[in-house]
Amino acid sequence: MKNNKKIIAANWKMNGSEELMKEFSQLTPPKHNDVIICPPFTLLDSAKTLLPNFIKIGAQNCSEEDNGAFTGEISATMLRDSHVSYVIIGHSERRTLYRETDTVILKKVESVIKNELTPIVCIGETLSEKKANKTLEVLEKQIDASITRVNTHTRLIVAYEPIWAIGTGLTPNEYEIRETHLHIKKKLNLHFNIDVPVLYGGSANAENCSKILSVENVDGLLVGGASLKKHDFEMICNC
Ligand code: 13P
Repeated sequence: MKNNKKIIAANWKMNGSEELMKEFSQLTPPKHNDVIICPPFTLLDSAKTLLPNFIKIGAQNCSEEDNGAFTGEISATMLRDSHVSYVIIGHSERRTLYRETDTVILKKVESVIKNELTPIVCIGETLSEKKANKTLEVLEKQIDASITRVNTHTRLIVAYEPIWAIGTGLTPNEYEIRETHLHIKKKLNLHFNIDVPVLYGGSANAENCSKILSVENVDGLLVGGASLKKHDFEMICNC
């Protein structure tokens, strides 16, 4: 996806059903935005069969390994064979609940790129880090540890998701989003010498989407809760 359109990505997390997928199969192509839906692994197959072609499919995680004795894991190779195009890597829920470190995240990103899929790498600060004015420092550290070490010139999307904004109804103000995105974008573009799309995620919804999308250097949204309601998601896609 290399054009001037914004990217609207849905992260269904551990939610959704065949029924919901059927509802989403009725979505109509938005004029100005590209759409990615990342359902749980068990719904990837129905996503492929039911969703219209304009919607690209993503997974929410993968193993850092290609194959082997890793019970319960799914590799990027397997996802590629399941017609997935994107993989969310390093979501804060995986970093905190499943103790994924920057080192593991780096390996996952490398595996995703090696398999010719596009990683959507999540970064973000906690509330206490924000209060201590450490946002940019934390983001730089995450980028240095798990993104700029990757050797890629094409496939990469970064999602800035302030942890305190996820599922809380809170969002940074436009000034904060502008500053943070500018900082992330400058660093990535300087390093990779290409334009790396940077999405915003955290309580994005049908009401605030136009405001957030109009902020400079916001290339799209990674939407959680609001992506589970067809009507809301459709409105966001048409923002
Ligand atoms: P919410 O949109 O529910 O805050 O979730 C954001 C998110 O975690 C997307 O990855």
